[in-house]
Order: sequence, then structure tokens, then C-alpha cells
Amino acid sequence: MTSKIKKAVFPVAGLGTRFLPATKAVPKEMLTIVDRPVIQLAVDEAREAGIEHFIFVTGRNKAVIEDHFDKQFELEETLKRRNKDIELEILQSDLPGAGQTSFTRQQEPLGLGHAVWCARDLVGNEPFALLLPDMFIHGSPGCLAQMKNVYDARGGNVIAVEEVPQDQVHKYGVVGVGADAGEGFEITSMVEKPKHEDAPSNLIISGRYILQPEIFALLDKQTAGAGGEIQLTDSMLKLMDEQDFYGLKFTGTTYDCGDKVGFLAANVALGLSRTDISPQFTQVLKQIIARNGGLD
Ligand code: UTP
Repeated sequence: MTSKIKKAVFPVAGLGTRFLPATKAVPKEMLTIVDRPVIQLAVDEAREAGIEHFIFVTGRNKAVIEDHFDKQFELEETLKRRNKDIELEILQSDLPGAGQTSFTRQQEPLGLGHAVWCARDLVGNEPFALLLPDMFIHGSPGCLAQMKNVYDARGGNVIAVEEVPQDQVHKYGVVGVGADAGEGFEITSMVEKPKHEDAPSNLIISGRYILQPEIFALLDKQTAGAGGEIQLTDSMLKLMDEQDFYGLKFTGTTYDCGDKVGFLAANVALGLSRTDISPQFTQVLKQIIARNGGLD
């Protein structure tokens, strides 16, 4: 019998240097894909998977994320007065319930592992989901809902993975592949940013995790690794000595919205999939492509 996953952690304390100057005053997680902030899309995915409590690890300049997940009383009253029922319904249905959000500060961006460690008291002694919001995963059912199926069947720790060309593995955390395990597979090893000849596979860690709380004690002692940052992968590798890890090749498309091209691609993909704007947007895209000399 596995414990239910009720809490999700969203690390949003990174500096977003790849997106300057946009991220000088606006957190990259508040940049929008069509009309939804990147962080809202990650929360949507978590809610679909049954998450009940949303923990944000924030940093300087990120207060607007807290405001985004708060009730905007005056705005709602104005929408009511103007009979803007659809807009009001969107605002109200997006909002987590009272007491369902927590915020903590990372203080210094010392790496993803350190950001996760900052959530230890809010998570407590229970398994939790971890979503890196700038990795937007487009698909239905959502990636975390697919991972939950593996977790419910197997327990342990579950990591979403996807294939990349072998010459790209050096940019990511890479897993070693063991025996099949239902919808997933057993993970045999993990390495952060390997040389392509040392990589155990071309399956990379894609920004979605289900982790057991024992990870916190390991993060507590973790020293800086690749890039001088406290790496989550290094602590997960240690946890693998004691607990099972499963990988899931999920269905869906990942867009790295912390990267300019990934962010633009996510806007195009979501724009084309939205029935309210797709016909008009398709026309505009065709015109832009034609004006720029076609697709070759
Ligand atoms: P990134 O690797 O994208 O780093 O972080 P970054 O600093 O946000 O962006 P760039 O590379 O400077 O453009 C992956 C995720 O981990 C979080 C980020 O907010 C993002 O969700 N993170 C990273 C933290 O919360 N704290 C950190 O110290 C580092």
C-alpha cells in the first residue's frame, strides 16, 4: 500500500538569466503561454493528478507569484458588476482553496537540490511530487497523472524521462535503464550532465518527480556538484542505494520555457491547440511564414 501523494513542490527561485531582460523584474514563471502563466500550467497539471497542497520555493522578486494564487477581491467584484461571467469563472476555478498554498524562500539560488531541501518542513514525512514549472509538458492526461499510475502500482520514487539525441545528453540528468516495471522501468543509475560517451542512455530527466521524504536527509548533507550547485540528482543517486526508482517515458511534448526558443514553441503549440484562437492564429502564422520566405 503506497501513501497518497498530496503535496507538490514548485521550485521557482532560479534567476532566469537565459531570459534577461524580461526576467529582471518579472519572474520567468509568470511569463505566459498564450494567456496562462507558466506556473499556472504546472499547478493545473498537479491538480489534475489529485494534488491538494502546493508548495512554492520562491526567491527575491517573486512576490507576484504569491499574488497570482491569491483571491483578487476588487477584480472579482468588478467582473461581477460588468457581468463578465466567463472571466470570473476562469479566475475562480484556477484558484487553489484557502490554506492549500505555502510559500518559502530559498534566500540564495544554490541549485535545484537546495531549493527542494528548503521545502523539507512544509513537506514533512510524506512522499511528494516535484514539478519544475519552466518545463511545460503539453498533453492529456498530464505527465504527473501518468506518473501517479506508476507510483500507485509500484511505490518508491518515480521520474519522468524522455529521449533526446545522444549528442544532447551532456546538457541534462541522464538515467540508466533496467528491467520493465509495468508502465515504467527500473532506473539503475543517474548522472548529471555526462559526457555523451559516459551517458548510460539517451533518456533524460524531464522536470517531474515523485520522491520519498528520505531525500531531505541526503540533501541536508549534499555538497555542491556539477556547475557548483547542489544537485538533486546527486542525492537521488544516494537514495537509490536504499529505495527503488522507476522511470516513465510519458506521453506528451516538453517545452523548456526557460529557453527562448522553447518558450516561443510552447506558445505556438498551445495557441494552435486552443479552439478559441486556433483558426485565426493559424492564418496569422501562415502569413508570417510566407512573408519570411516560406518554411525552407
Ligand atoms: P534552471 O536550471 O532553469 O535555472 O532551474 P534558472 O536559474 O531558473 O534559469 P537560468 O538557467 O539562469 O536561465 C530549473 C528550475 O529550478 C529552479 C528554477 O526556478 C527552475 O524552476 N531553481 C534553480 C531554484 O528554485 N533554485 C535554484 O537555485 C536553481
